[in-house]
Amino acid sequence: MKRFLQQLLGAAALVFLAQAAVAAPTYVGVKVCTKCHSYHGDSWTETSHAKAFDSLKANTKAEEKKKAKLDPAKDYTKDKDCVGCHSTGFGKPGGYALGKDPGGPEQLGSVGCEACHGPGSDYRDEHGTAEKKLLKTSQSTPRKLIVGKGQNFDYEKACAACHLNFQGSSLKGAKVPFTPFTPAVDAKYSFEYDKAVRTKALHEHYKLKGAFTGEPVPKVRADFQKTAKDLPE
Ligand code: HEC
Ligand code: HEC
Ligand code: HEC
Ligand code: HEC
Repeated sequence: MKRFLQQLLGAAALVFLAQAAVAAPTYVGVKVCTKCHSYHGDSWTETSHAKAFDSLKANTKAEEKKKAKLDPAKDYTKDKDCVGCHSTGFGKPGGYALGKDPGGPEQLGSVGCEACHGPGSDYRDEHGTAEKKLLKTSQSTPRKLIVGKGQNFDYEKACAACHLNFQGSSLKGAKVPFTPFTPAVDAKYSFEYDKAVRTKALHEHYKLKGAFTGEPVPKVRADFQKTAKDLPE
């Protein structure tokens, strides 16, 4: 009897673990987001983040590669030491994997929406739901709900994982593979969040109606919303 109970509990634990594994948010790709956020999508397409995968191709950015002691004639698009920072969700569920189509509607071969905003499988639908609620009842939804579903608001941390991942940077716990493009190669590769977040590397900002409210409010929010464009109806 005791042994039977132990086995039963063991099986229950396995089911629990399996459910926990299934429950983790996964990457869904750019098109899911741009279906609703088409203007963000259009301006993101013009950024170097959107084109980051191209830099790994042979004979592109040859001078830059030489300066960083890389081989300009080499194709780095299948190199696991490179693609992690030049794609979205590398090696994670739904994210980019070696050999996957870097393009297509998902555009996982790019620094896409979810590289900064977090894997979208679980929060994507909450956005539309929150807007409907706002329009119907004038009530905003606590931002905590979407944080619990995988949406990231710690942008500085997301940037640092790619931009400051080299030895001697201010990022604690930097680990290989490091970026080859460090301030030691050229001062222009130094990364200051407060400056970098205000450049054309990001998409245009558009006015929010306020479907979400409460902590965490990103520290750039008020600043960006002051000058944000109106969304065409
Ligand atoms: C998944 C990795 C990744 C994340 C996350 C990321 N970046 Fe980048 N970023 C890159 C790569 C790779 C490039 C170089 C693109 C190229 O030209 O190939 C880049 C380029 C840039 C540039 C240079 C643009 C230019 O045209 O000179 C700026 C500025 C920048 N990122 C800012 C940011 C900021 C701010 C964040 C966070 C809000 C961020 N990045 C998040 C990988 C990342
Ligand atoms: C830890 C993250 C990371 C890894 C790993 C990484 N990169 Fe990058 N890469 C970046 C970031 C961030 C930038 C943007 C630097 C900037 O403009 O400040 C970048 C920029 C570049 C650029 C454009 C430089 C320029 O001046 O336009 C090339 C080319 C490039 N990477 C190639 C590679 C290759 C090849 C590898 C593998 C050997 C690699 N990267 C590995 C993060 C990474
Ligand atoms: C390199 C990082 C990065 C990428 C890639 C990125 N975003 Fe953003 N996004 C930000 C930051 C930083 C903010 C400013 C946050 C704020 O004001 O709260 C922002 C704000 C937003 C906002 C709020 C309103 C606004 O305009 O400021 C929306 C909506 C949004 N992004 C959607 C997207 C979509 C859709 C994509 C992909 C097509 C995308 N983002 C790609 C970093 C990024
Ligand atoms: C069903 C349509 C829809 C989809 C799909 C969708 N969003 Fe949204 N999103 C919205 C609406 C509506 C808002 C609320 C805008 C407002 O307050 O005016 C919003 C808000 C946001 C915000 C700002 C949240 C805040 O703090 O107020 C960000 C960032 C964002 N979306 C990014 C994304 C990303 C990244 C994806 C893809 C994984 C995505 N969205 C998918 C409709 C959508």
